[in-house]
Amino acid sequence: MNETIETILNHRSIRKFTDQKLSDEQIRIIIQAAQQASTSSYVMAYTIIGVTDPEIKKQLAEVSGQFYVEKNGQLFVFCADLSRIQAIQAQDEEKQVMEENLESTEQFIVATVDAALAAQNAAIAAESLGLGICYLGSLRNDIERVSDILQLPDYVYPLFGMAMGYPNHEPEKKPRFPMEVIYHENTYKKHPEQDKYVQDFDATLKEYYSNRSFNVRSDTWTKQMIRKYKVPQRLDVGPFIKGKQMNRK
Ligand SMILES: Cc1cc2nc3c(=O)[nH]c(=O)nc-3n(C[C@H](O)[C@H](O)[C@H](O)COP(=O)(O)O)c2cc1C
Repeated sequence: MNETIETILNHRSIRKFTDQKLSDEQIRIIIQAAQQASTSSYVMAYTIIGVTDPEIKKQLAEVSGQFYVEKNGQLFVFCADLSRIQAIQAQDEEKQVMEENLESTEQFIVATVDAALAAQNAAIAAESLGLGICYLGSLRNDIERVSDILQLPDYVYPLFGMAMGYPNHEPEKKPRFPMEVIYHENTYKKHPEQDKYVQDFDATLKEYYSNRSFNVRSDTWTKQMIRKYKVPQRLDVGPFIKGKQMNRK
């Protein structure tokens, strides 16, 4: 095992941070690491917004309902961003066709994946520096408000936030599925024991939740998924993104 793998395998989301802010140097190296992630066709279809203004942080925390959006060492918002392609000075007919092509689901995926890869590089870089992170999909609780607060133009949408800082708690590492569930060789083959693996995983997770040092509860993965998927979630996201000229066809 090397230090990089150790850092990755040691990951857990951090939701309580000390008051210490990240230094400019830390932010610079973390953004550099984010930018060095692979990027589809070299498009670099993302923008990272570092939010330092307390009033903006407060508003974003209201959207998410999570206090660690406000209380952290640094807050980032990762945006999928095709606006730089849209701004390229091309001939009129080319420009029109380019704009139409930017509206496809394929280009939406390109921008979304690019932003996510950059974010995960930032996360690992931060963790390697002894910092903790928590992704914040909760910013999509009101995607339009977040877009307005951050003044995002067309062809840009806020994918998620990331709270970062010096950890002020030590959560236990959260279990993952056994590899047999996730990894298939050559073709998609549901493992004959998959249902049993999931049941066993429920038991493992139940134990984890009942023994951990914070937010102890009685829960399983299956129960969580039923709670999550039995109600429609964030149905405004699709129309909002279409309104940003993205994922229209
Ligand atoms: C895209 C994404 C969005 C997430 N959004 C939130 C969030 O809004 N709030 C939160 O507390 N955790 C959020 N998380 C963290 C997950 O809950 C967490 O990664 C998962 O439960 C596994 O726990 P671990 O990261 O500690 O291993 C998010 C994670 C991802 C990847």
